[in-house]
Amino acid sequence: MNTLFAANWKMHKTAAEARQSAAGLVALVSGKLRPGREVMILPPFTALTPVAEALRGAKNFLLGAQNFYPQKQGAFTGEVAPGMLLDLGVAFALTGHSERRHVLGENDAVVGQKTAFGLESGLGVILCVGEQLAERKAGQVEAVLERQIRAGLREVPRDIAPERLCIAYEPVWAIGTGEVAGPKEILEAHAFVRRMLVDLFGVSASELRILYGGSVKPDNASEIIALDNVDGVLVGGASLKADEFSRIVLA
Ligand code: PGA
Repeated sequence: MNTLFAANWKMHKTAAEARQSAAGLVALVSGKLRPGREVMILPPFTALTPVAEALRGAKNFLLGAQNFYPQKQGAFTGEVAPGMLLDLGVAFALTGHSERRHVLGENDAVVGQKTAFGLESGLGVILCVGEQLAERKAGQVEAVLERQIRAGLREVPRDIAPERLCIAYEPVWAIGTGEVAGPKEILEAHAFVRRMLVDLFGVSASELRILYGGSVKPDNASEIIALDNVDGVLVGGASLKADEFSRIVLA
């Protein structure tokens, strides 16, 4: 499996800014990317096409989307269907990101529905899970992860091609705070996620990628990537500048 470096740009960048950043990243990384690594950019919907154009022909670069609505089409004002994303060259989309859970109010059932629908529609999916600080302090990390993973994957076919599904462990208290989880916390959470995946998917669980997200920076990326059961990173703040993100990708 390829180690995945995913750039979640959230609600940042106009179309022109996104094109420039994506082209800048390709220029900085091309020819230097280590074998077995791939890079994904997840811009806002409005910048998918310029980013797709900037990535055209760039080896081991993928286009991702941050969200979609789990219906083929219809009267869903303001929403975007998986088929519309595939049409623009999107390969993967996020589900269950903490900002969608905690700011936009998506619950476990919705996340599960979206994950299954996205996969069924032909998108790859990165299902994000992670505990809030109060839950960690209350000793509930595994309980929260188990609940989110079981609900998130409830309707996903057990024979899904493993390269199409990733789990991102993103402790909510580490997102955008500069507070990175320590190696022990990452190792424990990722080992737990792997055990859950083995329970749900059997042997193919070893081929499912588990990403870490939460204040990944150029100076901590190589240490995080080297940890057991860490198959990539999902990066927010430090992915916005091409130069900074290139140092993570090349770490
Ligand atoms: P951060 O965000 O890198 O800014 O902490 C990570 C994420 O939300 O995916």
